[in-house]
Amino acid sequence: MENKRQIGILTGGGDCPGINAVIRAVTKKAILEYGMEVIGIEDGYEGLIHNRHRKLHYDDVSGILTLGGTILGTSKTANPYRYAIKKGDKLEFEDCSNTAIANVRKLGIDCLVCIGGDGTLNIAHSLFKDGIPVVGVPKTIDNDLIGTDITFGFDSAVFIATEGIDRVHDTAQALHRAMIVEVMGHNAGWIALHAGVAGGGDIVLIPEIPYDVDIIAEKVKERSRRGRRASIVVVSEGAKPKGGDIVIQRTVKESTDPIRLGGVGFVVGAQIEKATGIETRTVVMGHLQRGGTPTPFDRVLATRLGTKAVDMIAKEEFGYMVAVSGSALAKVALEDVAKGSRTVPLDEPLIKAARSVDTCFGD
Ligand code: F6P
Repeated sequence: MENKRQIGILTGGGDCPGINAVIRAVTKKAILEYGMEVIGIEDGYEGLIHNRHRKLHYDDVSGILTLGGTILGTSKTANPYRYAIKKGDKLEFEDCSNTAIANVRKLGIDCLVCIGGDGTLNIAHSLFKDGIPVVGVPKTIDNDLIGTDITFGFDSAVFIATEGIDRVHDTAQALHRAMIVEVMGHNAGWIALHAGVAGGGDIVLIPEIPYDVDIIAEKVKERSRRGRRASIVVVSEGAKPKGGDIVIQRTVKESTDPIRLGGVGFVVGAQIEKATGIETRTVVMGHLQRGGTPTPFDRVLATRLGTKAVDMIAKEEFGYMVAVSGSALAKVALEDVAKGSRTVPLDEPLIKAARSVDTCFGD
């Protein structure tokens, strides 16, 4: 009897809405169309190192399309090439890639589907170079992956952030305040830009355009002089002042990307209040943006990406990430994805459109 082909599937990095929709798409298509078997690796590369996995049957992925999070669990720290081990108070790093690779081979996995952002896909690329057939699926609310026009999870995060901004409008109007809404996005301003435009933010601060507090304060005062006694400021967590620095919330030493941003909203809020005399409050959307059911757009995108990944496996097109190019799906070499992150270009048409409706970027 011919051996069935086996796919391994893992989710790495932060969770985001739509991961389960990808797991469902990959598993259903692999089983139904190609008669493959699917093994779910638990907690990302952690499960690969410690051999934690379970077989995924059709019924395991039925009914998960609308679920947030990931049924497989994930890890933001496990990197087989630099695995953090606590020794007393000290943290040491070991190369466990041989163990991870041996586990993939022992399981008889013909291709590993790695769903993740730049950190996860970088590791996937290293595994590929070490002889493991892999296919990547782009996931991040930040929308900052090179090689794809959009990642799933982004639309859901923008939806939630926009809802937050909408709600803050009400209280800002009622109490004639300035309200700051800090959103995620890491070093890219995509979430702030899109949610800021969708939510009608008066001022939008993104990492790509360093801000000047005096300009922001003047905008708030000018609005107030025109009788607009409420102002909404949407701040990306990675925003920084001209000549200044980002605000770091914590450092996670064992992580591949140790810096966790957060808190700039409070800094900007205090500065606005001081400069304008207008009472100001700050709301941090934080992890709310990563939770809950994916939007219909993300469910569709996740299904398209997941099913395309299986077709690539069937054709033995390994070492690539499934990508979106315009309205079509494409494939991009993982080595190109690993080259950095995709921030908002200064000539991004949405910045221009926002400026034409009187949105201030603090510059
Ligand atoms: O990359 C996704 C993201 O949510 C970023 O927007 C944010 O900076 C970071 O992860 C938060 O990380 P953590 O979940 O470790 O707090």
